[in-house]
Amino acid sequence: MSLPKDTPIDTYLKAAIDLQNQERWQESIDIIEQCMRTHGGHPLAFYVAGRAYEKQNNLQAAAQLFEATLKHDRGFVCLLDLGKVYLRMCDPARATPLLVEALSKKPQSAEALNVLGQAYLDSDDNVQAEKALLAATKIAETAENQFNLGLVYLRTARPESALKAFTRSVELNEADAEAWEYLGQTYCLLSQYVHGILILHKLAKETPSSQRYRHLLTCAFKEFKPETFEPVFREAMLYCLEMESLSYDNLNLAFINLMARDPAQNLLRAALDAPSYDAFAATAVNIQTDSLNDDLLCKGLSAFIARDIRFEAALTHLRRLNLEMHTANQRPALLPFMASMAAQCFLNEYVFDETPTETALISALQTTLSKTNTWSDDAALAMLLLAAYRPLAPLIDSLPLLTPASIANAPKALESVLFEQVTDWLAEREISKTIPSLQASGNEVSDKVRAMYEENPYPRWKNVYRDHSGPNNAVNIDALRHNANGQTLELLNAGCGTGRHVMISSASFPDTNITAVDLSLASLAFAKKRCTEAGLGNVTFYQGDILELGTSLNKQFDIIESAGVLHHMQDPMRGWQVLTDLLKPGGVMRIGLYSEIARKNVVASRQFIADNGFEATLQGIHACRAAIKNLSDFHPAKSITGSPDFYSTSLCRDLIFHVQEHRFTIPQLKDCLAQLGLEFMSFSIARSKIITEYIKAYPDDKKMTSLDNWHEFELQNPHAFANMYQFWCRKPHRTIH
Ligand SMILES: C[S@@+](CC[C@H](N)C(=O)[O-])C[C@H]1O[C@@H](n2cnc3c(N)ncnc32)[C@H](O)[C@@H]1O
Repeated sequence: MSLPKDTPIDTYLKAAIDLQNQERWQESIDIIEQCMRTHGGHPLAFYVAGRAYEKQNNLQAAAQLFEATLKHDRGFVCLLDLGKVYLRMCDPARATPLLVEALSKKPQSAEALNVLGQAYLDSDDNVQAEKALLAATKIAETAENQFNLGLVYLRTARPESALKAFTRSVELNEADAEAWEYLGQTYCLLSQYVHGILILHKLAKETPSSQRYRHLLTCAFKEFKPETFEPVFREAMLYCLEMESLSYDNLNLAFINLMARDPAQNLLRAALDAPSYDAFAATAVNIQTDSLNDDLLCKGLSAFIARDIRFEAALTHLRRLNLEMHTANQRPALLPFMASMAAQCFLNEYVFDETPTETALISALQTTLSKTNTWSDDAALAMLLLAAYRPLAPLIDSLPLLTPASIANAPKALESVLFEQVTDWLAEREISKTIPSLQASGNEVSDKVRAMYEENPYPRWKNVYRDHSGPNNAVNIDALRHNANGQTLELLNAGCGTGRHVMISSASFPDTNITAVDLSLASLAFAKKRCTEAGLGNVTFYQGDILELGTSLNKQFDIIESAGVLHHMQDPMRGWQVLTDLLKPGGVMRIGLYSEIARKNVVASRQFIADNGFEATLQGIHACRAAIKNLSDFHPAKSITGSPDFYSTSLCRDLIFHVQEHRFTIPQLKDCLAQLGLEFMSFSIARSKIITEYIKAYPDDKKMTSLDNWHEFELQNPHAFANMYQFWCRKPHRTIH
């Protein structure tokens, strides 16, 4: 649209505003530009153009134009709009004084109070935020100000008040998915799981494209122990298990407790309640076995390790019962259950106890299968039983049914077991040949550690949620990009193991080159396979020792991650120094180190192992676990059974049989950081209850960065860092004196 040259300014402005009322933003900008060419700059023209740029998300231009207006006229509307733009630009420090000024002109503006509340929230000033938002709700209650109030209450560890505010927010605007999300999570935080899970499940179903909602649903289950059987939980759990790319492990506790309370699961419950296998076998004769083919039970067992002593014993009984029934020619159609049992045992690396009777029966079964050339129902069940006791890969050459041609003709029930245990394993072996090696260090401890992780890659994992913010939200990726002068960011994962964190980082730091290094080729092959399957083309894997990276990797990194690694080196500070030297000034580092306080039970277990001479072999680990399970509850090593890592062979070896382990305290971390010249940024803490408790204890430490406070907190809450100290730190730019 073009207006004649002599058009008066008011006509231009009216035309531009009319266009904006029709959401024709670019045309309105064109008109204002014509107006300015004819009449020069005018405060109102600046303002009208600023609004259009804001709508087009050109915030920088909008801010400049609003600032230009304010030079001539500091009116309420423009002050408010500029404040909002600065908030959107994540600059609450600039927004706040403008909003305060706007309010001085219109103290009763609920909108200005609400936006000011947001600005205070973004500046971590919760007290002022609450004041402004409460004042806003008194004048005109809106879904938005109630939502913001909910955030303030959550941040100040008042979940009950947050629940009320979020409830009110969704009452006022039912369509606000974010408010529902917070409401669901707050219910779970308050242990009101029925409501929380119902809401999060509904959200996930309504937005099937959102992986995040499904992830939140699995997280809701993480600390939940159902006391009763509720179909709602079963349905939500099944929904999660039907989706990919979720961290299924989160479902463990809820799954175990729900299955144990499921009225349909009489055989499983008999196994759970029986004092011994013989007692169980005697009862089992009278119980139908079909319930074991239950969808949720089978999907759960195939997806994650069941981490619980009683449940493990029950599964061990059920495995044996099936083996004995098969041997006695009693063969109910339990293929789905046995396939999931095989998947479970493969996942936990055959950590279940095995009696000599079972050893003999399995050995006989293996002999029979070595003479079997064609699939039948009997052969299928026999293969699944064998796979539930032994990994199939080492048997490829001795079992005719494991040739590629036979696998291709195998019954459907065996498909996933044969794929995981044979096809996948062969693929991994091929992949390992493609991973280049860097120079070895010759360090004796590194050699022992490598040997250990070659035998037991850590951790064997199945699925992971590739978080886009999660534990990395402490890091400002834009600042890193700025620091890298627009070059592609370089990330090093030192000691990447089986690649779980590499997968997560690739989502949190998109468009980044990732270099992943580990001592163990077996772990790297697993990692590379998973990353390739996920379509990650930006990861380069190397076999190598951290000690040598300074000379063998010819570059510096913007981000370095090394979780659970340095404490397994002979001299962790030497390794940490190498990593620090590889980090660019301004770069960030995520480190994970064991806590001395949290690992008291590990120390007791290591002592128990040393006293009893258990070896770090499959047999030694079986014997040790059996002995620990039989200890009195008062023995200091017994509580190790509460650790999730007790429930698989490689995890258990890593947990209590490690060839090298150092532990740290927070004051020590503080010293190490000072020695290396690194600045502490924040802990990555996944458990919201820990965060709530910390906020309650230290309301003044708004950024939660006081290491002295955290040390005091850990002394009061010794399990706070059971999962290591995981934290971000930064390498400052060198200061010139
Ligand atoms: C407990 S695992 C942790 C793996 C991975 N960071 C994770 O959290 O999933 C420790 C890993 O560190 C690796 N590692 C230990 N010392 C190392 C060294 N000196 N250089 C490179 N990798 C090392 C081991 O091979 C092992 O895979």
